[in-house]
Amino acid sequence: MLYDAQQKTLFGIRNSQQGYLELINKKYNFQETIKILDKIDWDFKDFTTQYLTHTFHSYPARFIPQIPLTFIKLFTEEKETVLDPMCGCGTTLVEAFLNNRNSIGNDFNPLAALISKVKTTLIDEGEFRYFNKKLGIMKRYLDLDYRRIDERINNLPNRKMSKIFNRVVISKLEAIRETLLEVKEEGHKDLFDFGRVALSSTIWSLVENGNGIDVDNLFLKKVKSMQNELKKMSKIVKNIPEVEVICGDARKLEVETNSVDLIVTSPPYVNALDYYRVHMYNMLWLGMDFDLFRKHEIGGHSHFIINRFRLLSEYLGDMLRSMIEMNRVLKKDKLCVIVVGNSSLEYELIESHKFFAEMGEKIGFKPINSIFRNIDKTRKYTSADIGKIDDEYILVLQKTDDTTVSADDDNFIAEVVREQMIRFREQIKKVQGTSIRGRKPTKERLLKNIDKISEAIQTIPEDIKIKR
Ligand SMILES: C[S@@+](CC[C@H](N)C(=O)[O-])C[C@H]1O[C@@H](n2cnc3c(N)ncnc32)[C@H](O)[C@@H]1O
Repeated sequence: MLYDAQQKTLFGIRNSQQGYLELINKKYNFQETIKILDKIDWDFKDFTTQYLTHTFHSYPARFIPQIPLTFIKLFTEEKETVLDPMCGCGTTLVEAFLNNRNSIGNDFNPLAALISKVKTTLIDEGEFRYFNKKLGIMKRYLDLDYRRIDERINNLPNRKMSKIFNRVVISKLEAIRETLLEVKEEGHKDLFDFGRVALSSTIWSLVENGNGIDVDNLFLKKVKSMQNELKKMSKIVKNIPEVEVICGDARKLEVETNSVDLIVTSPPYVNALDYYRVHMYNMLWLGMDFDLFRKHEIGGHSHFIINRFRLLSEYLGDMLRSMIEMNRVLKKDKLCVIVVGNSSLEYELIESHKFFAEMGEKIGFKPINSIFRNIDKTRKYTSADIGKIDDEYILVLQKTDDTTVSADDDNFIAEVVREQMIRFREQIKKVQGTSIRGRKPTKERLLKNIDKISEAIQTIPEDIKIKR
């Protein structure tokens, strides 16, 4: 395979990596392939995870490319279609692209959709020459009038951020934005998107590091490194596969029924992280509607403050709807791989993969394997917000039957979620509080938790409704 050969030369493959590549490049029958999954060391310790367009943009809780790569290689043929219905920054799509598989990525976060698209769109040298010329004559600073600056500062979701987004920084960001708009007006849409990802990545660095004076240089450096990676990628990908990126809801996929050969995805964790908060500043500068995304985000935790278990039923409902959609679009006998970590609510352990496996069985999936893997905590992709999570599971489901229910069947969703919540409450009662790393909730908290779960069970029909 050209890509593997390239990978060896590009990144200097170590012995363990060599063995892994040999394993995933062989052909097996289905039963053998399932067994191969147990031979893989899923921790992928010391593997290179940041290469080619994977380096474009930080993204919280992204998975390492080796997870989708393994399933793509083992369970699909070239030109087949791989879907990630919550594709984040497009890790699955990039691996499909590098391995000549068609792919569909879907995410409600418009920034995620933009990054995914740019990471899988090759741009030719002539276009880059035009772009670099344009950036060469870009004004580094726009002399803006006070009103425009004040408008920007007043629009910041948190006024404290005006320390980072001060007058100088705003004037520099506006200069970049105006140049990119000219690029778009001159008909270079792919370059416009490419530049917006570089701008967003620059804003990310500002927010993370809190120092913005050198914005324009930071941006130009980012553009250069992204161009280099895309050029390397162009040399590797010869037959360009099809990529479709949709900015939409995983609970209502705009994807044809029975059309997909493999799903590899990692949903948000319950109570872990609000993506809209993380990306607010990027979206603000890119003119994206983060409020719409906030309303439809799965797993967000800024509501149901008094009873956190209501978040769990809402989350299970959203995930069940998404899984019904995954079943609908997947071809029969094909695999749906869901990567998810444990999380916690009121000191109770939430093992999402177990909920997903049980719910999957109700809608035509058969659980095949649930693989445990350690997360390397030193890696960037484990965000501080989900610091409680240091392990995750790769749940492998096979579609054995077409689902007979629709994702908007509220009665069915409520019934399954109720069953799951009752089972969860009984489990907590039985073991006197589920433990997180050996620490159990106190007796008082346990009793309170049981009451709260009972209350959450009552409010399920309301809580699982999709908020419009
Ligand atoms: C754990 S991240 C996925 C990361 C991805 N595997 C990667 O490597 O970049 C979960 C994603 O789910 C997305 N999401 C949340 N609610 C969604 C919804 N209703 N529909 C589609 N995507 C949603 C978030 O925007 C986020 O990108």
